[in-house]
Amino acid sequence: MNSFLRRVPATLALAPLALAVLLSATPAAAQPAQPPHLAWKTGEEAQRIEQRIDELLARMTLAEKVGQLNLWGRGDEFRMEWLREGRTGAVMNFTEPAHIREVQQHAARSRLGIPPIIALDAINGFATYFPQPIGQAATFNLRLVELASYWSAREARAAGINWTFAPMIDMTRDARWGRVMEGAGEDVHLATLIAAARVTGYHRGGLATSAKHFIGYGEAEGGRDYNSVWIPVSKLWDYHMPPFQAALAAGTFTVMTSLSAMNGVASTADRGLVTEILKGRFGFRGFVVSDFESVRELLNHGTAADGPDAVRRAFMAGVDMDMMSGLYDAHLADLVRSGTVPAARLDDAVRRVLRVKMHMGLFDEAPYDPALARRDLATPQSRADSLAVARESIVLLRNEGDALPVKPSVRSIAVIGGLATHQEDWQYSDNAGLPRVRPDRLPDELRRLLGANVTVSAAPGLATHCNLAAGDTAGAVATARSADLVVVMLGEDCEQIGEGTSRAHLDLPQPQQALLDALIATGKPVVVVMHTSRPFVLTRFVGRVAAILQAFHLGTEGRTAIAEVIAGRVNPSGKLPMTFPRATGQVPIYYDRLPTGRPRVKHFRYETGYLDESLEPLFPFGFGLSYSRFALDGLRLDAPAVPIGGTIAGEVRLAHTGGPAGQEVVQFYVRQKVASRSRPLRQLRHFEKVTLEPGAARAVRFALPVRSLGFHDDQGRYHVEPGEYEIYAGTDSNATLAATVTVTGEAIVTTP
Ligand code: BGC
Repeated sequence: MNSFLRRVPATLALAPLALAVLLSATPAAAQPAQPPHLAWKTGEEAQRIEQRIDELLARMTLAEKVGQLNLWGRGDEFRMEWLREGRTGAVMNFTEPAHIREVQQHAARSRLGIPPIIALDAINGFATYFPQPIGQAATFNLRLVELASYWSAREARAAGINWTFAPMIDMTRDARWGRVMEGAGEDVHLATLIAAARVTGYHRGGLATSAKHFIGYGEAEGGRDYNSVWIPVSKLWDYHMPPFQAALAAGTFTVMTSLSAMNGVASTADRGLVTEILKGRFGFRGFVVSDFESVRELLNHGTAADGPDAVRRAFMAGVDMDMMSGLYDAHLADLVRSGTVPAARLDDAVRRVLRVKMHMGLFDEAPYDPALARRDLATPQSRADSLAVARESIVLLRNEGDALPVKPSVRSIAVIGGLATHQEDWQYSDNAGLPRVRPDRLPDELRRLLGANVTVSAAPGLATHCNLAAGDTAGAVATARSADLVVVMLGEDCEQIGEGTSRAHLDLPQPQQALLDALIATGKPVVVVMHTSRPFVLTRFVGRVAAILQAFHLGTEGRTAIAEVIAGRVNPSGKLPMTFPRATGQVPIYYDRLPTGRPRVKHFRYETGYLDESLEPLFPFGFGLSYSRFALDGLRLDAPAVPIGGTIAGEVRLAHTGGPAGQEVVQFYVRQKVASRSRPLRQLRHFEKVTLEPGAARAVRFALPVRSLGFHDDQGRYHVEPGEYEIYAGTDSNATLAATVTVTGEAIVTTP
């Protein structure tokens, strides 16, 4: 998506302004129209669609067929006439309603009038922004995750868009990789549930999804974007595939390949994955789109000799649509004419694209009405829902002496850091989604919530250059000295977020750390709000500040949510979806690791570990504090032994023991103690977010079918084995309550 800006001509770059004018004219309480809820049609309706495709295919010329497989973006090369000529079936990065209408009109005037599919990376919002997907995952609340995707879709749909390049469901264990912000974190159970919730949310909001990137992109070696990926078969199936299977089960219409190469084969040319597994074994009926220019990049991977060769490899691997490389446009027809590419494969690809368009209802839709954008963007409801997600996304990592919420004795607060106040380019997760609702400033929100008894002053502390350059430290320190409490907002800004933003250092950038040190040196209690798009290393200051709030770019209402948490209007309930390392050198660090032959027991040299750093993370996966106190006890199983075809069930008791009403995420982990291959030390298998009033208590139950607890070998066979399984319950991945269950019966082995 970075390439979007590169390609926007000056005339089109003004488009967001036009929409900004539209937005400002939005009547506040207008009632948005309900978008279509997309879903694959079934039965006779699906059969009729196949007949309709047969009829259409019979009328299409070779050029028109190839045209359906070309995806072009708004930018310097693209011409609207191409739609009229049938040279393109899909476009991307149009965000201005009038332009979208134009796109449709041009396509309608083509010989066959096939409607275009109109795409955008609507990752976490369009006009109303939501927390980044990693922040949505931190809610551990699938309803809210679904809601964020719903609104992202609904607003984009109101602007005329009907397809999104989301959700990104790559598994991410390496915080150095900038794109962790687009995913659901390190845990496959959580990520799988979220993949389904996001597809459902987008479909409910009227956008077809593209589950991406198939597959393994998140394993980029060294956390370097686009780098090689090495994944053994067992890990591919146990760890990377489940979110894609969930997205398919939720009905995703399209799947995107990856820019990366796995085990030496570029994903865009991987026939085994795309045709044999995705389309064959999984029976995927939609179409597969390449990533941005990834067909052309086969040349860079060194696996295609020239343009025609790249097209042949990608197309025969099963990639139906070419995003932006222009190579299908240039060479596919010739390859079909010469018989290098079978005509049947061309028809298959075109059928898939037409099928998606028909199941989306595009052929039967009324022309897009740009007035919808005026009515449906940034409504009171979308903003209220954005705030609801942001509230639950915030993770309280430290709260020494109950520094938060702000005590009545605090009469003045100093808010430091440009991230707390600037309103220009706060989101930066999706450039194409401009314009946005401007977020409120943190000092204003604190003033509003805390009232006249508390004085709130502000100082940027850093120069505005994306908060990366030292600024008026003395001014910030003076502001801090005059206050009872200091709130400083630090982290990532501008072009430090998302694709192409790998980091070798996960500590605070030096000017930010220097500012923080100066603030700590005032002796005032300091609350740090980390506004990052990935886990940072907080080790250098964790023990020296009063409180830390982790916020993964929270979106339009983020500063309001932060102020509410600081003021005590909202009790934090977010949990970390990724392990926070103590040092960058520990990365990749994740909780569900395998045991080693030399675990850390006696703490001597010949055990696994580091000379210069602990083995433990700073904060474990699943961790997050609350203003409430909770006690968890009484883990018990319904039965000490369960047959291999049965279900392990039981419960634990959660009690509220202090503070305000609050929410706690009760987490259940499983370890197979002895198996035919090493099994993770523990794996999350179930969680529930529970709300408790002061003094209340509740049993929290779990039920785990034994068949779901198996694993794959390197031939892709799935094994479920009898023996002892340990169940852990807790409120983070260090869960200590434990119970053992014996699974009885014969092992089950399923061959793919
Ligand atoms: C990214 C995709 C994105 C595409 C279009 C690529 O660079 O890898 O995830 O959908 O651009 O913006």
